[in-house]
Amino acid sequence: MTKPRAGARRAEPLAELSAPSWFGHADEVIGASLGKLLRSLPAAMAMVGRTAWRADRRAVLLGFGAQVVSGLVTALGLLAVTGVLTSLFVAGPTPDRLSAAAPSLAVLAAAYALRGVADTAVSAATMRLRPKVRHQVERDLAEAISRIDLVTFDEPDFHDDLARSRHGGMDAVDTATLQAVAVVGGLVSLASTAATAALLHPLLLPVLLLSVVPETWATVRTARLEYEFVATMIETRRRRSLITDLLAYKESAAEVRVFGAQPFLLDQHDRHSRVMERAQIELGAKETRVALAGRALSGLGITLAYVTLGWLLYTGATPLAVAGAALLAIRTVRASLTQVVLAANRLFEKSLYISDLLAFFARARRRTPEVTGRSAPVDPEVVSLRGVSFTYPGASRSALADIDLTIRRGEVVALVGENGSGKSTLAKVLAGLYQPTAGAVCWDGVDLSTVDRGSVADNVAAVMQEPTRWPLTARYAVTLGRPDRPDPGDRYLDQVARDSGADAVVDTLSDGWDSLLTTRFRNGHDLSGGQWQRLSVARALYRDAPILICDEPTAALDARAEAAVYESLRTLQSGRTVVLITHRLASVRHADRIVVMHHGRVLQVGTHTELMASNPHYADLYNLQADSYRDDPAGESALGGQTVA
Ligand SMILES: Nc1ncnc2c1ncn2[C@@H]1O[C@H](COP(=O)(O)OP(=O)(O)OP(=O)(O)O)[C@@H](O)[C@H]1O
Ligand SMILES: [Mg+2]
Repeated sequence: MTKPRAGARRAEPLAELSAPSWFGHADEVIGASLGKLLRSLPAAMAMVGRTAWRADRRAVLLGFGAQVVSGLVTALGLLAVTGVLTSLFVAGPTPDRLSAAAPSLAVLAAAYALRGVADTAVSAATMRLRPKVRHQVERDLAEAISRIDLVTFDEPDFHDDLARSRHGGMDAVDTATLQAVAVVGGLVSLASTAATAALLHPLLLPVLLLSVVPETWATVRTARLEYEFVATMIETRRRRSLITDLLAYKESAAEVRVFGAQPFLLDQHDRHSRVMERAQIELGAKETRVALAGRALSGLGITLAYVTLGWLLYTGATPLAVAGAALLAIRTVRASLTQVVLAANRLFEKSLYISDLLAFFARARRRTPEVTGRSAPVDPEVVSLRGVSFTYPGASRSALADIDLTIRRGEVVALVGENGSGKSTLAKVLAGLYQPTAGAVCWDGVDLSTVDRGSVADNVAAVMQEPTRWPLTARYAVTLGRPDRPDPGDRYLDQVARDSGADAVVDTLSDGWDSLLTTRFRNGHDLSGGQWQRLSVARALYRDAPILICDEPTAALDARAEAAVYESLRTLQSGRTVVLITHRLASVRHADRIVVMHHGRVLQVGTHTELMASNPHYADLYNLQADSYRDDPAGESALGGQTVA
């Protein structure tokens, strides 16, 4: 076979991601009317405000108070300037005029000093608030996620929404805090300056407006262009980072190399970069045109403002001193308005992301099981399923259909069946992790849907089919299910380590139980698949719960470790309910009852002997495996005649 050249590997840019739901908001945002943006603003501001208030009231009060003081002294400064100019412009000897202006000058100096202090206080308060607000929202989000019902994690768009909230939303909150302070500050200063100007002469207000409107337009327009750019590039940007992730993550690094996928991925990276480059250059050109128009119009506006001011002076409607102060007011108002417009624009932009975050919180609340205050029975005698069906969100077929099953304490019940027959799902349903879509799971007659989830979980330990590779120390990775259990001298820990074979794993680690199990940090260790599985068995044993679920607990274990695990399961069995899922039928022969599952239904329940006699489906599966262990050629040929439904 000839090796394909890198150039021949071109493929369409990740067509399967052509309309991801995380792109969802882009169109909406670009097409968003000003009205819509305005509506999203108060909710976003309220959220930031509430969070800031919870995070640090004193900083909020200080920031707000200092903001008002700053605005007021700006107005006071303007009045003082008028006073100074009025004293200076009267006829008479200069020393006299100067001494007449002295009190106003002193007020002016005090106003400037006070403003400096107030502005510093605002910065200090903002600096205090920003990280606190962000951390508060991060904490709220983490807590909301931690309470969400497990099944929500299977909802198709949940992860996109979560990603948008975690990244876009969190950054938005951060920026919004800063911008909200800027808007408030700008507005206070704007209002006080405008009020003072109007006080000096009513016509000064329109004059001020005239000088700032064109620049305001240009600022708004530029901000919208930038936002449009960001929104339209979200998809491309995220696709590109998906590619970089594939190159960067340890999980994919080996396959990237073994399949020689580098040229393909780099080519994809370049394509996306080129799209972004073109868009960015286009954006730059548009922004330049808008800035040019803005400046030209702004010049016109300022000229008009000055002409009006000159006309007011000429007609004697305004004294010279007031006109002088008006010039200063124009400058102040321009600066404040630009600040407000820029900040408000960023706020509008961010408020959409904050809306995402708020929507996520609302969704999380809906998906969080109610706390009823009722507890599940501790150490239940009987676990029963009555007419239980379960369908994963968005799935067209049910994973479990109409299941009736009763399990008693002290029993080992094995679930067997082909891949996808519903074993893992059934185990999760009877452990209360998933609520049945129909029917009920009862512990000692108490319907689990009526009690608090935490109290259900407290009775359950599980070896999951795909155990989490907890990036903690080995000790935490085993003890996290019962962190407070008193265990002097690690006696219990050592016992479960022996029973699961985790002791041999820990012996190989440089710091024993205190070794860190991730290579993402210095001095970390990674384990083999089977070693991870031994730890997961140890974790389940350490939790020491009345209901033990073992979903393929030995799939990755070597023969000796497997034998040890089954031996310890046998000793654990008394006084416990054990649900065992495995494809190795030799291991389930000794189970008290075996539940044969097929397409989400219970085909039959019985002992090994009963099933071998009466269930051809089970007998087929069993014989197929048993035959593969026989080394006589007759056994092999017998395999050829076997089929499994
Ligand atoms: N998170 C999920 N979302 C949607 N469908 C799922 C999900 N998990 C499993 N399924 C589907 O539910 C059915 C039952 O899956 P389950 O994991 O319970 O099978 P299983 O019997 O444990 O299989 P295996 O032997 O491969 O572990 C399958 O058709 C599977 O495709
Ligand atoms: Mg499974």
